[in-house]
Amino acid sequence: MLPRHLIDLADASVEDWNEITRLAGEIKKHPSYYSSACHGRILATLFYEPSTRTQMSFQTAMLKLGGSVIGFDDPANSSVSKGESLKDTIRVVSGYADIIAMRHPAPGAAKAASLYSRVPIVNAGDGGHLHPTQTLADLVTLRNEKGRYDHLTIGLCGDLHNGRTVHSLIKAMSRFEGNRFVLISTPNLRVPPYILRILEQSGCPYQEVDSLAEAMAELDVLYMTRIQQERFASEEEYLAQKGVYVLDKEKMALAKDDLIVLHPLPRVDEIAVEVDDDPRMKFFEQTEYGLYARMALILKMLEDKKYVDPQPQDQGHCCENPRCITRREVYIPRVFRMENDHEICDYCEE
Ligand code: NCD
Repeated sequence: MLPRHLIDLADASVEDWNEITRLAGEIKKHPSYYSSACHGRILATLFYEPSTRTQMSFQTAMLKLGGSVIGFDDPANSSVSKGESLKDTIRVVSGYADIIAMRHPAPGAAKAASLYSRVPIVNAGDGGHLHPTQTLADLVTLRNEKGRYDHLTIGLCGDLHNGRTVHSLIKAMSRFEGNRFVLISTPNLRVPPYILRILEQSGCPYQEVDSLAEAMAELDVLYMTRIQQERFASEEEYLAQKGVYVLDKEKMALAKDDLIVLHPLPRVDEIAVEVDDDPRMKFFEQTEYGLYARMALILKMLEDKKYVDPQPQDQGHCCENPRCITRREVYIPRVFRMENDHEICDYCEE
C-alpha cells in the first residue's frame, strides 16, 4: 500500500511502483473508463519554483480524471510573498484540496509540508534533492520502451550533483537486480554522498567517469540532464560547467541500436537538435508517459485510507546544509537518523 504522502519513491515498495506503472498502462489504453474517477475531488498545485511539464501534467492528469485544479505557480502571486510560512499555507490549502502536488526550492520542503497537511502531499521536486513523480514517468517509459527494469547499464550524464531527477532515478533503479550505473559528469558535479551511500548499500556496480563518448558503446539507457543553473552560487561557476556534454550524431554513432535516450526536460544544449529524429530518442514519449503515471498516482493516493502520521520529536540541533528547509522555516522539528556513524538530516538527507 502506498504511503500517505509521496515524498521519496523509496518510501513506497517495488510492488507499489509496479501497480502504478501497470495502472498507467491501463489508463493509456482505456482513458474513458477513468474520465470521472476523481469527480468532485480537487488537486492543489503549489509551485514555489518554475515548471512546465510537471505542473501541467499534474493538472492535466486531474482534469482527465474528472477532478478540478487550484493552486499557484508563482509564489509572488500568493501570500508567500507577504511572508506566510510553509506550515500556514499547507494548513489552509489542505482544507480546500484533496491532494497537494508541491514543488519548492529547499530540499526537504515536501517532507516538512507533510507534517502539517490533512491531505496527501506529493513531492513535485524539492530543491536539488528528489523528484519521485519524474521517476514514475521514467519507470513507465522503461517498462514500455525497454520492457524491463533490471540488468541494464544506465548512463546518467550532466549535473548529477544538483539534478533531483537523477537522485530519485538512482534510488529506484538500484533496487533492481543486475543494474550497473555509469555516472558521467565533471568532477564538480558528481552525485552527492547520500546517493553514493545508496549505491554502495545496493551492491550495484557503478563508475564515475568524465567522458560521455567513452561510455556510449556500453549503455542500454542514457539519461541526459541539463546543468542546473539556478542551483549555482555564481554565474561564473555555472558557465564553467555549461556546454561540457553535448549528445550529437557523432556520439550516437557509437551507441547500441537498442539504446534509449531519456531526458526529464527542459533541454538547454546537452542534446543537439540534429539527433531529435533518431528513433532512440524517447524523451518526448517520456513526457506523455509522465501524464499517465501521474493519473495513476493520483487515483491510488486518493483511495480511501486512514493513517496517523508519526509526530517527529525535535532533536534540538540544526541541519548543517544551508539550503535545507529546516534552515528557512525554523519551527519545523529537526530530525536526524544515524547511518554508519553519521547523522543524516531526515529532510534533506545531507
Ligand atoms: C526537471 C526538474 O524540474 O527537476 N524537470 C522536470 O520536472 N521534468 C529537470 C530540470 O529542471 O532540469
